[in-house]
Amino acid sequence: MKVFHIVGARPNFMKVAPVLNALKSHAQVAQTLVHTGQHYDANMSDVFFEQLGIPAPDVNLAVGSGSHARQTAEIMTRFEPVVLERQPDLVLVYGDVNSTVAAALVCAKLGVRVGHVEAGLRSFDRTMPEEVNRLVTDQLADLLFTPSEDGDINLQHEGVAAQKIFRVGNVMIDSLVKLLPAAKAQNRDGGAVFGNRLSDDRRYALVTLHRPANVDDGAMLKRILESLLEVSENLDVIFPAHPRTRQRIADFGLQAGKLQIVDPLSYLEFLGLQTRATVVITDSGGIQEETTYLGVPCLTLRENTERPITVSMGTNVLVGRDPEKLRSELARILAGRAKKGTIPPLWDGRAGERIAAIVAGGNS
Ligand code: UD1
Repeated sequence: MKVFHIVGARPNFMKVAPVLNALKSHAQVAQTLVHTGQHYDANMSDVFFEQLGIPAPDVNLAVGSGSHARQTAEIMTRFEPVVLERQPDLVLVYGDVNSTVAAALVCAKLGVRVGHVEAGLRSFDRTMPEEVNRLVTDQLADLLFTPSEDGDINLQHEGVAAQKIFRVGNVMIDSLVKLLPAAKAQNRDGGAVFGNRLSDDRRYALVTLHRPANVDDGAMLKRILESLLEVSENLDVIFPAHPRTRQRIADFGLQAGKLQIVDPLSYLEFLGLQTRATVVITDSGGIQEETTYLGVPCLTLRENTERPITVSMGTNVLVGRDPEKLRSELARILAGRAKKGTIPPLWDGRAGERIAAIVAGGNS
């Protein structure tokens, strides 16, 4: 049985690693890893492969950056001949990036079965490119692997047959569970990036920001940076910036003041910093989940989330783009009254094994 995995962007890598690993113990499965090249910088891609123990891709489509239409079309154009030549039995796609939907479309048109890992998440906000990718991918997929019950419910509302839906838990948490000791050890050593500057009692806010809605609009980005500058009066602010964000800050001529803007960090460095952060301030999807698992307070700079379980069960609070809300939530955290959370069911480090058992067990 020939199984393909398609990855392209940073948040895909921590999701594919556990599935690749778990499928190794099913001898009848031959695996092929395809990297679309959506992310190509070493610190957005290669370092994740190394730290997560992912083998070098068998195929690299090297599509690079572009508008949504161009990037999606380029992935489709380059992926189609690979599918025609190698004839996979099942193609696994991950998350909600352009590589995910592009590969699912190619397979659906060629009659090749698709499995979607991290299916069913919905923000109900179609201005988010990822929401469009999620909706389309889930309509096309034959096997839908969901992280939590809300995913199953969303899919059923959209008419997806119940027998295609498998609640397997959160596969990204598998990588976290596996690498947490290494991430903490790295912290103890001071971390490659921050050296000895991170003493044990150092309190800091860890920030990430890259959503187009937050960073592509100059006035919006300026407002957010002003809020972060206010945060920096109480706490150190460590801000590993996505290349797009760094570019926008420069394009709009914005001031970063005391914010410690650094290049994107590796998986272990970033995870290590999360474990000890006083608060994480982000617009990422995956980081809302990681902080919930770690029990670290998370303030999300978005009006909605496709991961509502991080709010209902976890440590996540949506502050939107309201500086007053950010201020009051931060004050609560600094006063030692941070929201407490619990770890959602099936976020136990074994989702990859459950997916592998379904894939290899004849459901495909
Ligand atoms: C993509 C995903 C987003 C995910 C994010 C994680 C889509 C629609 N978006 O957004 O869901 O949260 O990845 O990072 O798929 N760039 C580089 N080097 C790289 C990659 C990108 O400099 O290795 C710069 C380029 O200027 C590029 C821009 O970042 O144009 C945006 O990259 P792109 O892959 O289009 O989207 P992301 O914002 O990274």
